[in-house]
Amino acid sequence: MADLVTARRSLQLADDGWAVDILDQTALPHTTEVRRLTTLADATEAIRCMRVRGAPLIGALAAYGLCLALRDDPSDAGLAAAVAAVTKTRPTAVNLVAAVDRVARVVRLCPPAERAAAAYAETAAICDEDVHINQAIGEHGLTVLEGLARGSDPVQVLTHCNAGWLATVGGGTALAPVYAAVAAGVPVHVWVSETRPRSQGLLTSWELSQADVPHTVIVDNAAGRLIQQGRVDVVLVGTDRTTAGGDVCNKIGTYLRALAARDNGIPFYACVPGPSIDWHTPPGAIPIEERDPEEVRIVPGTLPDGRPGAVRVLAETSHVANPAFDVTPARLVTGLITERGVSPATADALRARYPERAG
Ligand code: MRU
Repeated sequence: MADLVTARRSLQLADDGWAVDILDQTALPHTTEVRRLTTLADATEAIRCMRVRGAPLIGALAAYGLCLALRDDPSDAGLAAAVAAVTKTRPTAVNLVAAVDRVARVVRLCPPAERAAAAYAETAAICDEDVHINQAIGEHGLTVLEGLARGSDPVQVLTHCNAGWLATVGGGTALAPVYAAVAAGVPVHVWVSETRPRSQGLLTSWELSQADVPHTVIVDNAAGRLIQQGRVDVVLVGTDRTTAGGDVCNKIGTYLRALAARDNGIPFYACVPGPSIDWHTPPGAIPIEERDPEEVRIVPGTLPDGRPGAVRVLAETSHVANPAFDVTPARLVTGLITERGVSPATADALRARYPERAG
């Protein structure tokens, strides 16, 4: 367990070379628990319950889910059933379908006896690519933060949700520039929005605490006030799906931060890995996940004796809407920090950066 935390890895292949060890994000920030996933059902449960979350990470685990399934049943029918099971876990992050399609395309060309090995090899390639993408986003994002630095005063970054190493295979997307800035000696301070109802901001706070990065947690509704007061220099967020035209789908509440940033002349950047770009779906057709109302009605935490507990704050009969994502229009986005550099949020600029994918 300590290995995963020390290595800042939220998921890795187990010592046996085929099972998958994950850091259970539903236990964080209170306890660090590692789970070993050995079946397709383990993988789909982990994605659906958000033990593993964040667009690049669920893409990687979805791919591993196919690997685990193909060990049991490498037939065409087995592959089709596994693809269907994984694809229906969470609808919004395009990384998930992209990773599943990629692995399935490769294994379909192999005889059944070779499919599991081919799936593991392709999944390893997806994971390695994510590590490199995170690294490059960190480097390009660092130039943005360096441009905002003013001597010894920290650059004030506001982030939403968790787009750090917990949410990726590598070092994160929106937090990668922060870590790069700390390594380069650029002083930073991060405002972390709590991100109700799943409180991914608490994961961000845990991550930043592990790395001794100065930060302050705020309730979600405080973001506009801080931006208005001039206490934020830049908003950095991740993405679950960015359209070919540069519209950024991300955790619910991202749009409100972009509006406040624009109204106050503050730059708003999304950190966008290539595999998070959906070249085909228009913004209005992005499937926005509607999650269980009980996530809003029940607040988890720790009891006074340190054990995990939960408090019901709203009756089971109260009506609740729980959309998990929103879409920030490209016109509110200052730039997209990709692994290929900082791009304007326009179709032409994105096409120019990814000529082979934009097709
Ligand atoms: O519902 P979640 O926690 O999976 O949502 C995660 C986000 O919205 C992240 O900002 C996004 O996936 C980018 S993670 C690098």
